[in-house]
Amino acid sequence: MSINSQVRKSNLENEDIKMLRGLRLGSLKSCILEPYASTYNVKCNYTSTKPSNKVQNLPRLPVPKLGDTLNKFLVTVQPFLNDTEFATTKTLVKEFENGVGQKLQSLLEKRATQHENWLEEWWLNTAYLEYRDPVVVFSSPGLVFPFRKFNSQIDQLTYAAKTLLAALDYKALIDNDKIPVEMMGKNPLDMSQYKKIFGTCRIPFEKRDKLSFNDSKHITVIHNNHIFHIDLWGNDGKRLNEDQIVQILKKVVDSSPSPATDPIGILTSENRDTWAKAYQLLSKEQVNRESLLDVETSLAVLCLDGAAGVWQRDRDRDARFTLAAAQTIHGGGAASNGANRWFDKTVQFIVGADGITGLTYEHSPAEGQPIAVLTDFIINYIDQNKTTESSSSSPKDPVQLKFIVNNDVADMIKTAKNNLDKFVANLELDCFKFDEYGKNFIKSHKMSPDSYLQMAMQYAFYSLHGTPGAHYESAATRMYAGGRTETIRSCSPESVSFARAMLDAAAAPRRKLAALQRAVAAHKDYTVQALQGFGVDRHLLGLKLTAIENGIEIPKIYSDPGYVRSAHMRISTSQVACKCDGFMCYGPLVGDGYATCYNPRDDDVNFATAAFAAHRDTSSARYRAALARALRDMRRVLLHAVDSKL
Ligand code: COA
Repeated sequence: MSINSQVRKSNLENEDIKMLRGLRLGSLKSCILEPYASTYNVKCNYTSTKPSNKVQNLPRLPVPKLGDTLNKFLVTVQPFLNDTEFATTKTLVKEFENGVGQKLQSLLEKRATQHENWLEEWWLNTAYLEYRDPVVVFSSPGLVFPFRKFNSQIDQLTYAAKTLLAALDYKALIDNDKIPVEMMGKNPLDMSQYKKIFGTCRIPFEKRDKLSFNDSKHITVIHNNHIFHIDLWGNDGKRLNEDQIVQILKKVVDSSPSPATDPIGILTSENRDTWAKAYQLLSKEQVNRESLLDVETSLAVLCLDGAAGVWQRDRDRDARFTLAAAQTIHGGGAASNGANRWFDKTVQFIVGADGITGLTYEHSPAEGQPIAVLTDFIINYIDQNKTTESSSSSPKDPVQLKFIVNNDVADMIKTAKNNLDKFVANLELDCFKFDEYGKNFIKSHKMSPDSYLQMAMQYAFYSLHGTPGAHYESAATRMYAGGRTETIRSCSPESVSFARAMLDAAAAPRRKLAALQRAVAAHKDYTVQALQGFGVDRHLLGLKLTAIENGIEIPKIYSDPGYVRSAHMRISTSQVACKCDGFMCYGPLVGDGYATCYNPRDDDVNFATAAFAAHRDTSSARYRAALARALRDMRRVLLHAVDSKL
């Protein structure tokens, strides 16, 4: 049986995948483009292999020792079990360790000798390409850039042109291996994700999507839901300058004054199997196949959005943050800018008429960090008001891409609009800048800022729900070849004791401080292990997939409450650090959960929190307030305990 069908058989369905994934990687076995192109008789000039990495000779992702992972696992399940349940889990774990676990471990170790990274392909498929929920809200993050105020349409188009030129400069650095190799301490990090940012597109297929990698000289521009091909190089082979791009964008805008009746782009916001069906229907027409390929092969998408009202008088900074986050995650719904998108494209730059700028990125090829570095590069480029010397003597006019939409596809578009509007209504977002302190203050108290912020989230959740929240944080495993992430299980016995101490009115500040220090230290310890590939979740996933692949019954520990509850990530979090005053944002992993993406800066932290409106127990507004309160309380504890020496 193929891996694919076995994975399905195992019920590694969307819910399961969400638990595993948190925020989300990539290597590709082969490029789909040539077979695809030949099937549909469309000419293309794409690369036919995965983007090559400059050889970095990085170490291979280790397979942790079985006993080590299981011991760690037992510690992380404690907050979610009573004594009887914990005793049962311990027995199951022992049986697993002394029984089938050993066989699975040795099969997994064998796999690790056969693959440069034993997890890479499994992860890409299970966490992303086989995931059937829409990429919108459920997988693709938005990234909000610092606000701008455009006084005219030309301002908007000039900003868009600068964004494109900055992106092209950045791509040239990537292509020429000029992006400095990132380091974690003394360890160089895998840079291959950078090569997958431009020219990449996810293509919908039933059951498992594919990725297509391309290098080209054009971009896709979407305005009023109409889709255009724009060449960024002229007939003379020279790159266009800012004015020339602005002129071309102006032609795009002038030729699409009203919204398209059948906005094809909205189909990319659908459930993946539904979109795959629509894609097959569209592909029956040669003109559609050509248009689809044109979008898929472009370097990136530029969405020239209509105004979303960001500068309306009643909006303060945080309301603006929240509105911008919504625009970058889902475009505000079908009647706003939700159809002015192609969500399958790895990077879609968003430049709104009223100054909302940012991007949406499809998560499968890369983590947030390379995208955050791209963001800082673009913002610097724009703020330094860089200009390009060169220009082309023969820019090409934009070409509007044509689609023939039959009745079936038209119906699917209508349904897609309704579905997107439902997602929009269901996603509560509350983004805010916590400006009372940032990393510097935390460092001055000799604590890891990241661990401290994670503990604030633990405390906030506990204060709202009176119970520990299973908590996912992404840790980069890029010190290994093809590495992506491991889960930091931020909820620990220490984090629970800390939250309880904070809520105990009788507890002295010294006791609270000690509980905070212990919780931060435990989190930091787990982080260091996760960064080295010694977390719990990826190893347990590897053992489970090994069982599935070898036709072995899935061991009982995977259905035990210890595993199920500790992996039901009610708090899904990720630090995506950029220097500029921006932030990344996304939706929760589980129905009754929260998302928290944050950008910790020296003296403030930008937070994007989210919850689902459909779930009665959660509220992003309450969570956001609890988080800000937690940060204030913790500061008070630090200052008070130090002052009073109680
Ligand atoms: N006292 C004083 N300073 C301390 C300290 C302490 N006890 N502990 C840490 N610091 C300092 C660090 O030296 C660092 O200093 P710098 O700003 O000068 O570099 C700073 O505080 C931040 O360190 P810390 O907060 O501990 O962690 P981090 O920034 O290294 O982040 C992770 C930790 C796990 C978030 C990070 O390693 C990681 O993996 N990031 C990628 C996550 C990811 O994949 N996101 C995208 C998903 S889409």
